[in-house]
Amino acid sequence: MNPATKTRSVILGTGSFAPENIVTNEDISRKVDTSDLWIRERTGIRERRVASAGESTSDLALEAGRKALGHAGISPSDLDGIIVATATPDLTFPSTACLVQGKLGIPGTFAFDVNAVCSGFMYALKVADSMIRSGQCETLLVIGAEVMSRFVDWSDRSTCILFGDGAGAVVLGKSGKEGSGGVGTVTLHADGRYWDLIHVPGGGAKTPVEMERPPGNACTIRMKGSETFRMAVRTLEESVREVLKEEGIGVNEVDWVVPHQANIRILEALSERLGIPLERFVINIDRYGNTSAASIPMALDEAVQDNRIRPGQGVLLTAFGSGVTWGSGFVKWT
Ligand code: COA
Repeated sequence: MNPATKTRSVILGTGSFAPENIVTNEDISRKVDTSDLWIRERTGIRERRVASAGESTSDLALEAGRKALGHAGISPSDLDGIIVATATPDLTFPSTACLVQGKLGIPGTFAFDVNAVCSGFMYALKVADSMIRSGQCETLLVIGAEVMSRFVDWSDRSTCILFGDGAGAVVLGKSGKEGSGGVGTVTLHADGRYWDLIHVPGGGAKTPVEMERPPGNACTIRMKGSETFRMAVRTLEESVREVLKEEGIGVNEVDWVVPHQANIRILEALSERLGIPLERFVINIDRYGNTSAASIPMALDEAVQDNRIRPGQGVLLTAFGSGVTWGSGFVKWT
């Protein structure tokens, strides 16, 4: 088949949602030995959103999904499927995607979760894009949603400062016009040898909640911060270069980098290594912290809604997360 006539997927609409409740660095410094200055200087984070007692991942996902559908002008009944990227599902099973599907009232539409933690949105995007390219589907809702706050040890100053809650979504559709842009190369990688760099030990089949020793604290995030930092910078750079090479483009054709928001210093290092000024990065870590799989679609939605991202521009997405997993993708905005 002539490459120009191949089906591509395009992003038809974006949406995002964050809980109302804001937790500032000052709030955290009243509970653990840290300061607003330390957190801002070492991470770039000023505040994060934290879900209220009645809110869970599927609620945030539903709101972001509804907004993306509204922005795309697509009715839920037009969807072929829903894919939710999350590492913090409402329940061990069924999937959060099924809960969202039920709330959208579209029985029969397939729904499943993807778990690649902070790289989850890249993984879900690749799966959705592949389903559309292969002709199996025409319209999919892809959501990244997390309630990280329920898995944070709020007495551990090295991790509790980093994470936040939120959701972002895109509606992916079949390209209407040949060679008219859309989702291009998406590369995914993982290295399970480093599974313990960032992990939650309890709550799974290996350590069910009732077997936790000591009880009650195993379902929270454990992280080797500086090793994670170094690996993130290296793998993000490698995978961005892989995408640029595959696309046959240089950094000048990247108008916007929409990265996973883990630490401003990771993004500064990436900007320097790639030679793409930080001004061309979409950054909202100051207001949301690390929202894991939600961070890329939340930042993407922000930059689309305020017209930074416009049709014809080159948008590069890139993520690193627990697993360890990483991946990048290029979208010619339509
Ligand atoms: N407030 C004040 N001091 C803190 C602190 C906090 N919140 N957290 C750690 N410290 C202290 C440490 O105890 C250590 O003190 P010591 O030198 O007396 O032992 C010192 O600060 C330096 O710790 P270190 O871990 O080397 O700091 P860092 O500069 O690497 O920053 C992170 C720590 C967690 C912010 C940083 O490593 C990071 O962001 N890593 C990547 C994490 C990440 O992105 N995870 C998700 C990936 S998707």
